[in-house]
Amino acid sequence: MNINLGSIFLNREIPSLPSVEGMGDFSNPMTPARNPGHDFPAWAVRALPTWWAMPQSLGGGLFVTGPSGCGKSSTLREWCARTGTPCFQVTANGRLEFQDLVGRVALESDGQGGTRTSFVYGPLAQAMKTGGLFLLDELDLLDPSVCAGLNGVLDGSGLVIPENAGEYIAPHPAFRFAATGNSSGSGDSSGAYAGVMVQNMALMDRFTVVRADWLPRRRESALVAAGPGGASGETLELMMNFTESVRAEQGPLGISKPLTTRSLRRWSAYIAAYRSKPLAALGGRSPVAAALMDAWASGLSEADAASVSETYQRVFGMPLTPDAPQPQSQPAGGGSNE
Ligand SMILES: Nc1ncnc2c1ncn2[C@@H]1O[C@H](COP(=O)(O)OP(=O)(O)OP(=O)(O)O)[C@@H](O)[C@H]1O
Ligand SMILES: [Mg+2]
Repeated sequence: MNINLGSIFLNREIPSLPSVEGMGDFSNPMTPARNPGHDFPAWAVRALPTWWAMPQSLGGGLFVTGPSGCGKSSTLREWCARTGTPCFQVTANGRLEFQDLVGRVALESDGQGGTRTSFVYGPLAQAMKTGGLFLLDELDLLDPSVCAGLNGVLDGSGLVIPENAGEYIAPHPAFRFAATGNSSGSGDSSGAYAGVMVQNMALMDRFTVVRADWLPRRRESALVAAGPGGASGETLELMMNFTESVRAEQGPLGISKPLTTRSLRRWSAYIAAYRSKPLAALGGRSPVAAALMDAWASGLSEADAASVSETYQRVFGMPLTPDAPQPQSQPAGGGSNE
């Protein structure tokens, strides 16, 4: 089924724009529900339609790398929602095995008080059998030995399942493979992402690699304004100033916990809820400060918390923690506290 790119990216048909071939399987329970508020970032508008139209043997898988919470997985799921593509999503971890993706023999009741064995297909096998997107989140947490099993699939080969009497699954023409990660497969140089492993370069070579980043400020702030709590006006401007400053300090030597679009939306929701609470219930903090603590800042290391407090004071003109111990008063003539 032809699906107009306007209806995918802008929620309305634009006849002058081209179409992509989509499954159009909107009633499939594995097809994500559409979120009309999703804002497709530039990397998706540029690369997704081209990659989608390529045969797997040419484009390989799509690997989207970028900071946590910048919209990698949600954008791929939204692409599925708007093209009617079932999405078989798995989050990798160091103990995930290839069999978890392909399937296992399981015991089930035979209905007569006994048991029998049957093969339960894993998400990769299901996507290859029936068509759809296999989405492997956090690929860079995967044990590299598992990745070797994926090479053939990424080349466009079928899957042989010895555990199911040698069944052969030829890849469905609408099967696609996408993955996300916070590193680019060569380990994490920022130190922010524990568990990230250096991936086998033969595997990484089988992916089209696309870099994702935060949405431009105007669009990210529109998302926050349209989201829960609906922060607006000066509060929203200051939140975005604060976010920009914190992100500028992130990196190998700076704040290690990313301030994500996800956390920003949560911060906005908490602000709205905390506005109606008495100051005492918020530990003496303003609703904006108390909301920031609960939505994001309480999980920071001590060093990061000190630097975030400074940034907050500079941007909002008031302390993040009013009862924090003040620097020791200097002896007369010993200089200011600034
Ligand atoms: N472009 C966007 N449009 C709408 N919402 C967005 C967008 N980008 C991010 N978000 C919001 O941020 C949340 C986090 O996005 P998502 O899960 O896609 O991030 P991610 O990059 O996959 O993060 P991680 O690396 O931690 O898995 C989403 O649930 C959504 O609320
Ligand atoms: Mg993700």
